[in-house]
Amino acid sequence: MRILSIETSCDETAISIIEAHGTYPDTAIIVEADILVSQASLHAAYGGVFPNLARREHAKNLPVLLRQALEKAGYATTRNPHVIPPTLRAQISTILHREPELFDPLVHLVEAFDVPPIDAIAVTFGPGLEPALWVGINVARALACAWGDIDAPLPLVPIDHMEGHLLIALLKKDGASSQHHLATTSFPILSLLVSGGHTEFVLSDTLLSHTLLGETRDDAAGEAFDKVARMMELPYPGGPEIARRALQGKPNATFVLPRPMVDSKDLDVSFSGLKTAVLYKLRDLPPLSEENKNDLCYEFQEAVVDVLVKKTLRAVKQHGAKTVTLGGGVSANTRLREALARALDEETPGVALVVPDPSYSTDNALMIALAAYLRLEAHLVPTHEPLVAAGNVRIGPKVRQ
Ligand code: KG4
Ligand code: ZN
Repeated sequence: MRILSIETSCDETAISIIEAHGTYPDTAIIVEADILVSQASLHAAYGGVFPNLARREHAKNLPVLLRQALEKAGYATTRNPHVIPPTLRAQISTILHREPELFDPLVHLVEAFDVPPIDAIAVTFGPGLEPALWVGINVARALACAWGDIDAPLPLVPIDHMEGHLLIALLKKDGASSQHHLATTSFPILSLLVSGGHTEFVLSDTLLSHTLLGETRDDAAGEAFDKVARMMELPYPGGPEIARRALQGKPNATFVLPRPMVDSKDLDVSFSGLKTAVLYKLRDLPPLSEENKNDLCYEFQEAVVDVLVKKTLRAVKQHGAKTVTLGGGVSANTRLREALARALDEETPGVALVVPDPSYSTDNALMIALAAYLRLEAHLVPTHEPLVAAGNVRIGPKVRQ
């Protein structure tokens, strides 16, 4: 089965094409294209993601990325270029009524090439920034229509962004080729999902059945990194910058920070108090030298990592998890990976840790294609009312409870 996926939930525009077959754990995946453009440098001026700018950039990037993805996968062929019938053109125009500027480039692109051998279109339907999400959703709907038959568009698979982050941890490359497989795991899996918008502890009894055990009560871990970086006048995104500086930092008695909720019995976390503690340090101390900034970054990262690692261990013990996975942008953090690996080794030997390739920690479209394949293969495609209500969408069976 071949899937084209689109991800536009935040400030990364991404498209991938995979060819996959087999039932987990015997799943084989060929990554035919995996293309991404980051808007981070544009949003840096605002110190965070500006939703309408993200929407505009996604709309500008998507036709360009789509062409690159088709070329990369070898589907930019012109033996029998597709002609979209007038009725379908009219439907596509209706679908794109919020993005009229996309009609011409998309139709032009689709009609430049043969119909690609794509079986389904996957798209992130949330969570994310609403204006940004809709561009991806509507382009996915338009493509499903353009490449489908008059009364049977290609199946459209709405994917939860966090499930994408969760599942991509299992994707492993076979050597240097585009061939991939999924790591074999024991269930239940405990996932720590740490992104710019979410911090969640999720228990999965199967690859596709998840229970939320705990989450942040205020800021997400990535958001805390970004806000603290902004307070320190460091560039956006703050996570990688703080991590870089922390490498040069050291323990410093002036910058000791709290570990909020680290001993609470539940599986929730909170980072706003930690952020405020940094704010008070910056307010009460004279302007920091570069060396002091590095020390503050070091301590802030230690505080976040401490809390996340201790809560993950608590979740593993409480729920008898046999595997731990990491996902989301903050899971690129090397210190978090090391500290979690060490703590699991010492306190819960036998529990496996599976981490994503660092390049798949942050947002990408491959994770959306992977989740879509696993859901299609298991006949567990979620319904999503706004997509269905928007019409012209074929959706699979409802998620089994
Ligand atoms: O998953 P993601 O790419 O986008 C969302 O779904 O939000 O996560 C982005 C977040 C940002 O807050 C960024 O600062 C953080 O992940 N991040 C990191 C690192 N790389 C990205 N945080 C800490 N250490 C890193 N190395
Ligand atoms: Zn994300």
